Amino acid sequence: MTSYLIKGGTVVGPTGAAAADVLVDGETIAAVFAPGRGPEGVETIDATGKYVIPGAVDAHTHMELPFGGTAASDTFDTGTRAAAFGGVTTIIDFAVQRYGEVVQDGLAAWHAKAEGNCHIDYGFHMILGGVTDEALKAMDQLVNDEGIASFKLFMAYPGVFLSDDGQILRAMQKARDNGAMIMMHAENGPAIDVLVKQALERGETDPYYHGVTRPQELEAEATSRAIWLASVAADCPLYIVHLSASKALEQVAAARDTGRNVFAETCPQYLYLTLEDQLGAPGFEGAKWVCSTPLRSKHESHRADLWRGLRTNDLAVVSTDHCPFCMKDQKELGLGDFSKIPNGIGSVEHRVDLLYQGVVDGKLSLARWVETIATTPARMFGMYPRKGIIAPGSDADIVLYDPSGRTRISASTHHMNMDYSAWEGWEIAGKVDTVISRGTVVVQGNEYKGRKGHGRYIRRGLSDYLV
Ligand code: URP
Ligand code: ZN
Ligand code: ZN
Ligand code: ZN
Repeated sequence: MTSYLIKGGTVVGPTGAAAADVLVDGETIAAVFAPGRGPEGVETIDATGKYVIPGAVDAHTHMELPFGGTAASDTFDTGTRAAAFGGVTTIIDFAVQRYGEVVQDGLAAWHAKAEGNCHIDYGFHMILGGVTDEALKAMDQLVNDEGIASFKLFMAYPGVFLSDDGQILRAMQKARDNGAMIMMHAENGPAIDVLVKQALERGETDPYYHGVTRPQELEAEATSRAIWLASVAADCPLYIVHLSASKALEQVAAARDTGRNVFAETCPQYLYLTLEDQLGAPGFEGAKWVCSTPLRSKHESHRADLWRGLRTNDLAVVSTDHCPFCMKDQKELGLGDFSKIPNGIGSVEHRVDLLYQGVVDGKLSLARWVETIATTPARMFGMYPRKGIIAPGSDADIVLYDPSGRTRISASTHHMNMDYSAWEGWEIAGKVDTVISRGTVVVQGNEYKGRKGHGRYIRRGLSDYLV
């Protein structure tokens, strides 16, 4: 099938929806036609009753991330296949430089894990675990030669990933000069460690206390500090990852209102799940939802504020922060001590559906749904217009989405390598029907048609989202 017409659907993009037919030629989109105006005699895919949207871009995943004495349970093989089932056609995963390690060695290790194993296209951000003179030089090389123009720093996890304020400032100054984006894990790690130690001394060992010891003030403080440090670095572009809380959002919104290059993402878990109902589940159950930043209290306005932030663009992107660990042998490492539970939730397969539920619930427009899950992540991280839009010349990464379908989420049916689901039993409106990656149909209904190795590494450019 080299040339075919996707016919009869409603094409949705960041500016709205319209009935249109999409001509695919090889790996790219050749043309978009008014209904019925496309060529005759080519093969067709019937999209009647379906939304035709750009393949979703998940800009925050951690396949096989070593963490907390174990490693995230999805490989690039299992994780990208599950992503494809969920309508995702590109992921950006985080390669890791550990403290004392050469940045390029960390990157090479990540390429070795991914190459030949991915079912969909992939790019990398780089985590800097040690900001040294050599690492700062390496940032230039990654931007110029490796297609990596985004670097994640941590204000949390002292002794593991944490950079101090001086190191953060130096990396921001470098990014300001070479055009890269600084991505920030904004939580005050040293203060959190004090609260964790005190909680454990009081015998508060259940997963619930993971949330209690990471109060939103310590996310807001770190977010604010990152924003001011970026200001000192002459408005270095700053992207706050996995923003979870109202007070942190206020900091981002205030910076954005002054015209700063400050951006933020949130994740489905913060839009739906809570400290009390999930993290506070009886016994050790809550371990399923231990992630950082943590789930927030349902008695405060976080979830409503985050949905509003998505509408106002104070939150520009929804990513998953997909970092799955099984309960058995992995989350269980923290039995009797919540601080030893590996941090992370796996949702790479469910973001498109979970956010479509926001459309059904009247919280997001159709256009905004597509923008936050596909178009803006592609623009933010230098892949646009190759990814994130249905337009002539773009890669033919396309999802046919069935608004009359239903999705029931369960560990017994999901494709992620996890022995539980953070969304077990959730039934939501809408269903991924057909997924096309660079012109190839990889998912049709419940059937998998893709293959390991189809996914290619994407060399990304600079962000085109800056003001
Ligand atoms: O809990 C989380 N988020 N695990 C993944 C690592 C990170 O900080 O993003
Ligand atoms: Zn993080
Ligand atoms: Zn605003
Ligand atoms: Zn993450």
